[in-house]
Amino acid sequence: MNELEDKEIQERIKAKGDLPRHIAIIMDGNGRWAKMRGLERIEGHRAGRESVRDVVRACGELGIEVLTLYAFSVENWRRPRREVWALMRLLRDTLYEEVDEFNRNNVKLMAIGRLEGLPKASREALFWAMERTKDNTGLVLNLALNYGGRVEIVDAVRRILEKGYRPEEVDEKVISAHLYTAGLPDPDLLIRTSGELRVSNFLLWQMAYTEIWVTDVLWPDFRRQHLYQAIEAYQRRERRFGMTSEQLRGEDGGAR
Ligand code: FPP
Repeated sequence: MNELEDKEIQERIKAKGDLPRHIAIIMDGNGRWAKMRGLERIEGHRAGRESVRDVVRACGELGIEVLTLYAFSVENWRRPRREVWALMRLLRDTLYEEVDEFNRNNVKLMAIGRLEGLPKASREALFWAMERTKDNTGLVLNLALNYGGRVEIVDAVRRILEKGYRPEEVDEKVISAHLYTAGLPDPDLLIRTSGELRVSNFLLWQMAYTEIWVTDVLWPDFRRQHLYQAIEAYQRRERRFGMTSEQLRGEDGGAR
């Protein structure tokens, strides 16, 4: 896609309105991408970095508020040691390398997950990069690291109990406010690459009304044109939040 085509599609998406405020992505298929080329799995993750760069830039240009990327799950520790450590090193190096680019593009880095469980060097890089980008006001790039949707809910319940809430005081708002994502809007659009039809323990509470878009494209091949396809598909959908189409269009005459 040349620059002119890119700008044209971006203008079309912006003109249509109703942009997703928050996009979440399950970046899947790095291993398969590498295997197909006779490479080690880590080469797939390394190539996936270029997809991250392109998608972050495109989301910033479109004015998306939050992009959450599922970079490492609590289950991913079960992978071969070699791959886990290579991923952690890749994360650390990427954070140090990308901070200037984040600052040039007004990107604020955040992270969700049991961050205290990350290896020291990766954790330090993460907190260093978050500190360096904290005053940026554009896209929030939210990395899910050592993240699991169920442990997130467990951690929220623990904090609520520690604070001494009474049962009748606990409602959906209180739970949302104690999740790692407190203060962020729920995702409007979930993108999953490599064709799998699962949510894989990602943002379980927050995805109650999220629209899901799945592509067979493997993550290292994913580029902004695929992101645009997902957003345009989202813009064509009708989000009903449990209501009828007539209610949404105001045609039900107030009937209950
Ligand atoms: C899933 O593919 C991908 C991951 C577990 C890691 C994602 C990490 C990156 C894209 C690295 C760069 C990102 C940042 C934020 C530095 P998979 O290995 O499960 O693929 P497979 O299903 O084909 O085996």
